[in-house]
Amino acid sequence: MSRSPLPSPNRPIVLVGLMGAGKSCIGRRLAARLKLPFLDADKEIESAAGCTIEEIFERHGESAFRDGERKVIERLLEGPVCVLATGGGAFMNPQIRNAIKENATSIWLRADLDLLLQRTSRRNNRPLLKKGDPRTILADLMEQRYPVYADADVAVDSADGPPEVTLKRVLAALRSHFASASDHGSPTTDSEAAAGGRP
Ligand code: S3P
Repeated sequence: MSRSPLPSPNRPIVLVGLMGAGKSCIGRRLAARLKLPFLDADKEIESAAGCTIEEIFERHGESAFRDGERKVIERLLEGPVCVLATGGGAFMNPQIRNAIKENATSIWLRADLDLLLQRTSRRNNRPLLKKGDPRTILADLMEQRYPVYADADVAVDSADGPPEVTLKRVLAALRSHFASASDHGSPTTDSEAAAGGRP
């Protein structure tokens, strides 16, 4: 069965979802596939602040972090078209959510609790998960956040397996989103598609 080529996006593609959903891992691969720059909002916040997210939480508190997060994401959305991975709390902020809805195509990477726990346990750098039992915290965050993440343009289940599996799902979901929506705007196709291949 032939697939239509994926249009070259003329707006940023923004990944949202909980800690451990695979936003950075999949975002990096998606960017390479679409030949777009990849940006990680958390890393950009750290370089703007000159310290780690943990240090921002410790020294200035969560609300200062959220403020910086909003400024950084608003700035990145105004820059060149890119794939942007956001921190898990970003889409919960109505201002950030509106900026993403107005200026980007959003993808919610959805994952179940066991997968999130398994992935987040590999690193110990997430201040919110140090406040108590990570399973309970993540379960609570799923309850609060999943109904809001559902407002993203596209939802994709993060696979418990090689990232290529999730990447394929993301590409398929974007292809059908762009086919039914006009938000990519551009009639051009990416170079792979233009060369006769399929992204
Ligand atoms: C947060 C998620 C983290 C980071 C910060 C807060 C959250 O990003 O922004 O620790 O509120 O869910 P990742 O989702 O990339 O881990």
